[in-house]
Amino acid sequence: MKKGLFITFEGIDGCGKSTQITLLKEKFSSENKEFIEVREPGGTRVGEKIRNILLDRKNDSMTRMAELLLFEAARAQITEEVIIPAIGNGVNVICDRFYDSTTAYQGYANKMGRDLTDFLNLKATSETSPDITFLLDIDPELAWKRRMGRGEEDRIEMLGLSYQEEVRTGYLELAKSEERIVIIDASRDPEVIHEEIVKHIWDLTG
Ligand SMILES: Nc1ncnc2c1ncn2[C@@H]1O[C@H](COP(=O)(O)OP(=O)(O)OP(=O)(O)O)[C@@H](O)[C@H]1O
Ligand SMILES: [Mg+2]
Repeated sequence: MKKGLFITFEGIDGCGKSTQITLLKEKFSSENKEFIEVREPGGTRVGEKIRNILLDRKNDSMTRMAELLLFEAARAQITEEVIIPAIGNGVNVICDRFYDSTTAYQGYANKMGRDLTDFLNLKATSETSPDITFLLDIDPELAWKRRMGRGEEDRIEMLGLSYQEEVRTGYLELAKSEERIVIIDASRDPEVIHEEIVKHIWDLTG
């Protein structure tokens, strides 16, 4: 049986991942292509429990290392339980963030080191790599304005923006060495971006 495609979406907060995933799901549905949508952490019984730990505000003493390992634990579970079987059954998998997020956020912006995140990413996923990754690249200030839904906001948290800038740089660095990562200019209209994404998927499947 033909394997399903493993497609991931990456980028800073508010870059438009959910918007593009919605458009791609509509496209796949209209073409009767089978797919599942996956979101980390969670998506499995074990993963949901891990998600609750990660999101629980009472766990404010969680260390960065504990957080990293919990993300990887949830990733290991969903990869083995959901992603690998789906791909094997010819079902396309659309993933809202995958291990590149760990590389950009923990490895790069949080300075935990690429050696560590690369090693854990590979182990947690049994080296299951996406076929194609769309990096929705955008100026953090524009992404922030979009999320706020207004053009002029005076409470731009400068620290927040510079952190997003670090994450963005981390993603762009990573893209230089990973051929599967397609950098998409996410400052354009959703439909224009969607067309480009579909073209790339089309190129991949022929
Ligand atoms: N290309 C676009 N042009 C203008 N606005 C957009 C575009 N794409 C998304 N938006 C809007 O920007 C906001 C953030 O988009 P979206 O939720 O898709 O981003 P996200 O990457 O999923 O964010 P998060 O990381 O918070 O999940 C939403 O209000 C959305 O409607
Ligand atoms: Mg989203």
